[in-house]
Parts: sequence; structure tokens; C-alpha cells
Amino acid sequence: MLILFTTLTFAQTDPNLGIIPAPQSIIIKSGYFQITEKTALQYETDADRKIAELFKTLVKDKEGFDLVMAKNFIQAPESMISFNSAKSQNVNTETYTLYIDNKNIQLKGSVKGVFYSMQTLTQLYLNNLETHQIPQCAINDEPRYEYRGLHLDVCRYFFPIDFIKKYIDFMAAYKLNTFHWHLTDDQGWRIEIKKYPNLTSIGAYRDQTIIGNYHDRMPQWFDGNKYGGFYTQEEIKEVVAYADSKFITVIPEIEMPGHALAVLASYPELGCGDNPGPYKVADKWGVFPDIFCAGKDHTFDFMEDVLTEVMELFPSKYIHIGGDEAPKTVWKTCPYCQQRIKKEHLKNEDGLQSYFIQRIEKFVNKKGRSIIGWDEILDGGLAPNATVMSWRGVNGGITAAKQNHQVIMTPSTAGLYLDHTQGRSDQEPVGIGGDGRISKIYNYDPTPEVLSALQLKNILGVQANMWAEYLPNTTKVEYMLFPRIMAVSEIAWTNLNRKDFKNFNEIRIPQHLALLDKTSTFYRVPEVIGAKDTSINVINDSYNFDFKPSVNGAKVYYTIDGYEPNETTTLYTQPFKVNVPKGEMRPVKARVITPLGKKSVVTTTLLFNRDTLKADDSGNNKNQGALKYYYLPGKFKNTLEIDTNLATKKGLTSQISFTKVSGKAREYGIVFTGFINVNENANFEFSLYSDDGSRLYIDDELIIDNDGKHARFERSAGVALQSGLHKIKVLYFDDGPGSTLQVSVKGTDGKKIEIPSVMLYN
Ligand code: ACM
Ligand code: ZN
Repeated sequence: MLILFTTLTFAQTDPNLGIIPAPQSIIIKSGYFQITEKTALQYETDADRKIAELFKTLVKDKEGFDLVMAKNFIQAPESMISFNSAKSQNVNTETYTLYIDNKNIQLKGSVKGVFYSMQTLTQLYLNNLETHQIPQCAINDEPRYEYRGLHLDVCRYFFPIDFIKKYIDFMAAYKLNTFHWHLTDDQGWRIEIKKYPNLTSIGAYRDQTIIGNYHDRMPQWFDGNKYGGFYTQEEIKEVVAYADSKFITVIPEIEMPGHALAVLASYPELGCGDNPGPYKVADKWGVFPDIFCAGKDHTFDFMEDVLTEVMELFPSKYIHIGGDEAPKTVWKTCPYCQQRIKKEHLKNEDGLQSYFIQRIEKFVNKKGRSIIGWDEILDGGLAPNATVMSWRGVNGGITAAKQNHQVIMTPSTAGLYLDHTQGRSDQEPVGIGGDGRISKIYNYDPTPEVLSALQLKNILGVQANMWAEYLPNTTKVEYMLFPRIMAVSEIAWTNLNRKDFKNFNEIRIPQHLALLDKTSTFYRVPEVIGAKDTSINVINDSYNFDFKPSVNGAKVYYTIDGYEPNETTTLYTQPFKVNVPKGEMRPVKARVITPLGKKSVVTTTLLFNRDTLKADDSGNNKNQGALKYYYLPGKFKNTLEIDTNLATKKGLTSQISFTKVSGKAREYGIVFTGFINVNENANFEFSLYSDDGSRLYIDDELIIDNDGKHARFERSAGVALQSGLHKIKVLYFDDGPGSTLQVSVKGTDGKKIEIPSVMLYN
């Protein structure tokens, strides 16, 4: 007998009926609404008709038949779906209801509300496509935040209009309402400006593009191919109108005063000093010193001309003016900039940036619009009406909210940078690194706890950013987007009390990915649910595994022999036990393979069967409070290459941390040795969170192997220790950007803490 875990079974048992984002209120009844050829679509207004048509098109696409559609039916149809926006509703409210009984489906709200109701109905329909039975239910729903954003950088790579529309469709399906279009940057200017044709004839193209990751090699490799593109004003209008039909506002970003190389290459006179330039459109990501001159009035004339054309194309209330990552070095030596500082009585170059942004804000405000800037616009003083986008963590957002400015939260530190890595960076495609796991996004609460009730109101919402430096094609964009857009959607829409990561991750995501698997949209297949990338010290000579595929209908394959799991290895059918003889180790490797053959990364769980490690008598009479460290500059790929005999610095440290030793160095190895004291016979779980590689040995046994070059990633392992002192050794190396080392322990009290100095001896 086959037990079929179809989407149907999950839909029946899922309290959210597979809906993402989870609605605020859902009451599930027994019974179904059956969509047939005889189902009629009824609409109230013209706007409702357009929404009904979207649903009609979907049904036609899936079933091949056309549903009848009308404002009034003389004869009552057999079953009916009605789209009824109420005129009494404020057009901006996104609240909606969706009532489904056996013969009628009613979608109600403002027009926007009816649209979101239709999106929910669409998910219920697609989730039950095989049976055509839509569960009876009553949904009352509204968003937690009014601003639910997704950004796309089209400067580092350029994506065609058709893809932009597809991206907008993805947003609408997940009830996001603001598309932040990052149109200008060092690597390319992407929007036609009639008054300044060089912006697109010169600024939209670069001579070459870096190959591979920025840090892969020195000297870096370049492809030698001219690359670029831009959107005509007609295309921009087309996108804005398309987005509007999906109730999505498009906010354009025109960067200033930094990230300006593409402009400067087109119009060098906008740079600092006399006879500035020549400049080149950048061939790789960077924070470049050459930025707009803030001293020349011509810069502001240019900006006002550009913004005038931009505001004619984009009806959005907000215009994003960038403001991030603008080094002020060139301003320091530019006579025009210095003259401006003097004349305007500005304090310094930060004051000059603030002047720049405020002057632009005045112009934008005069046209009835408002500016958004990245959190650097706080430096030197905020422009009076500016909205702040907090990206360097949450502090910028908190500061702005306290100053009674509106805030959009998009902290890279919470995984909201979708260019960051979804798993171990050494198992993922080339990227910028960083920790962007979906659980991190899901667990982020955009409203900071430290704000007062009044200040909280300044948090408009949340956004995720898709920076494109390592996204040379749309397939890669889709890979970075799915499934993480679902987590972005849920943190933006769903109230905290309705969030449930287990239900989201194990029930609803697998269902949505199963639908994607049938389409041409690419996505990342998540790791096997229940498989842990970690080491485990087994109890009773064995360990039990309970897996679930991360995509419904997909299969899980595994091995216990160290080989790579694939279709030729063991198919997971039910929970299983792996025996580990005393003193031995077993690597259990598992991966998901979908019906279309897409594969997840392999998750490896190392099972050890170690005896309790005996306390080390030789550790007696040691000094409490510190470990020895050995520091060695150099480029390493693995901690085993660190030779402590060659250490250039050594000494004692009360923390297992490199910060006091390494300074600003980014290529070095460090080894910590000594003893750790535990005061009970118990199982302890150690964790190594590092960027790059690290290893932990206790009593000369390798406990955690988190080695190799990679972005921040944590591995944990349990080990039984006898009360007393044990030898400890931690190895760590850093290579390139991102430096992290945290060594934690969890004892019987279940609290995970960084190993405190009182436990350390030397
Ligand atoms: C940014 O990531 N520079 C806003
Ligand atoms: Zn200047």
C-alpha cells in the first residue's frame, strides 16, 4: 500500500490551508466549493471586473474552460464567485474578507482588498487543483504593515521588462505592495532621461565585467565583453502601469551623491574640482571615492532635471534618492565643495551630504513628493521630511523613528539582503556571502522593541533587497527569491501571534514549492526537513532520523557510507535508525530530489559514538580565567594549515575571540588552547559560529568541524563530559570580508552561552 502524502492531505490538516502569508483569521468549515465549467463570476464595479478577469484567466490556463462573467445574472448560476468592492471602504485599506461555502464564494473589501482576497482564493484554488475542491472557510485578513517592499537592483546586471513584470507578479501573489527599483549605480545607469542622452548611450554600458567572486583571486579576472542596457521611458511607463494593475507602487531609486560612476562617466563635469575625470562605468561592485560634486550648482540643476523626468514617469508618493556609501574624500580637497561648506556654515563633509540631501528634498517636496534615503542620510542631520530605510542593521531605523521620521526596515543583519547566502556558502552558487537563511528572515520582527508606542507608528514596514552583483541572469534571481519571498511576505503581512515557523517551513513552503516545480520558475530546493548539518554524540549506540522532503511530491535519498546521495542510493520511506558501534563514526548524508529533478544541497550529519570524556588530571593547578592564543598572519584555506610555531603574537585571552588580537587584519589564523572546566557529569552541546573556518577539539578529539572558507555558519555538536577540567583547542582562520567567531556551550540548564572566562584555564 502506498501512503500518498498529497497536497490534499496537507491542505486538510493545515490550519492555514496552505496560504502564504498566513491570514490573520481563518475559520475552516467542513465541505468544499467545487469549481466547474458552470461556476459563474459576478462583479460589482469595473475594478472588480478586472480582478475577476485575472481569476478567469487563471482558471482558463489551468482547466482550459472559460467561466461566464457578468454583473447580474437573470437566472441564478449553479455556483458563483462574487467580487464585490464596497464603495464605503477607504480605497487605501487592504483589509479583505473571503467567504467560501458550498455554492458561493464572496470576495469583499476595498478594490485592493478584493484583489488580495483574489490572491488568497488563487492559492486555495492552486493548492487543491487536483480535486478542484476549495475548502469552505471564512477569512478575515489585513496586513500588519502598510509598506511591504521588495527591491531589485538592475544596475550590476540588467533584467528585461518581461522579467520585471514577472517579478511584480511574484510580489502580488505574496501580497507585497511596493517595488523599489534600483535604477542607477556605479555599474550602469538604466533609465532613459531625455535631457541627458549620455546617461544611457555611455552610462548604461561597461567595458567588462568581473568573473567569479570579488575575492576569488588576485589579480581579479574580467570577461572583456561590453555589457549593459537601459529602459526607455515607454518601457518604464509600461511597468508602472502593469504594477498598478497589481496594486503595486513602483518607487524609483536615483542614487546620490555616491554610487555615481555611471553618471560621471557620462557627464564628467558633475565630478569634483576643475576638469574632472575621465571616469569609467564600474566593472565590479565597490564603494568608489568619485561622487557628485556638492559644491557646483550644476550638479543640483542636473539632479532636478533628472528628477523632474523621473517624477513624471513614476506617480509614487516616495522617490528614493539613495544617500548610502558616499565617501567624502574627494569633497575634502574640492575647492567647490569646501566653498559650499564655508558659505553655508556647514560643520564638515557630513554636513555637506546633509545639505545635498536637504536641497534635493526641498525640490522633491515642492513637487508634492517625499524622499526615502538609506540610513546614511542620518549622518550630519536628517532632512526634515525624509523617510529612512534602515539597512546597516536596525539602529538607523530606531534613531530615525525616535526623531519622529518614518522608517522602512530592511536590515542586512536580519537576512533581508537576498543576495546573502541561503545555506552554507561553500555549497551555494557564487555570491557575496553573509547569512541569509530563510529562518533568519522569518524570525525577524521589523518593529523594534525599544520604541515607545508613539514611535512604533513610524515603522511603515519592511522590505527585502535583491542586490545583483552576483546575479548575471534571471534564473539566479529566481533562485535567490524562492522560497525566501514567502518569509518576507509573512513578516510583512502576518501579525506575530499568527506566525508559526514549523507550519510555514514544513507544511506551506513545501506546498508552494511543489507548484513552482511544475512551472518554468527556478527556485532553491531547501535542505531535507529534519536533517541537521551538525555532529551528534549518539546515545545507546544509535540515532533515529525522521525526514520530510522540503517540496511536496519530492523524494529524499540518503547514504550512511560517506558517498553522495542521489537517485541510486537509499530512498527514504520511513523513519530509520543508524547504528554506530562504540568509538566509531557514521556520516549520514541526505538530499531532496524533486519530480523535475531539482536537487537540494546535501546535508551531512556526523554521528559519533564517543564515551564520556574523562576529566584531565594534568589540568589541575592551572590558572583560571584565560586561554593561550597563537596568532599568525597569512592566507589559509583550512585551519589545519595554521602552524603555531610560526605565530607572530601569542599571549593570554579571557575570551575565545580574535577582536583584540587581529585588529583590522583579514587574513590570519589563530589558535586557542588550554582547559575548560565543567562542574557536572553531563552532556554538553558546543557550537562554533564562524566566518571563515573553525574547529573545536576537546581532549584532543575533534568535536566540531566547521572548517573551510565560508560565510558565517554555525555547527554544533554534543559531547558527554565528566566533571572537571578538559583540554580545549579552538582553531580559526579569516580570509577576506566578514569575520566571525563565537564559541558557545549549552549545559543541562539548556541555556546557550558564549564560553565565559570563568570556565577557562591555562
Ligand atoms: C546598500 O546596501 N548600500 C544600501
Ligand atoms: Zn566638489
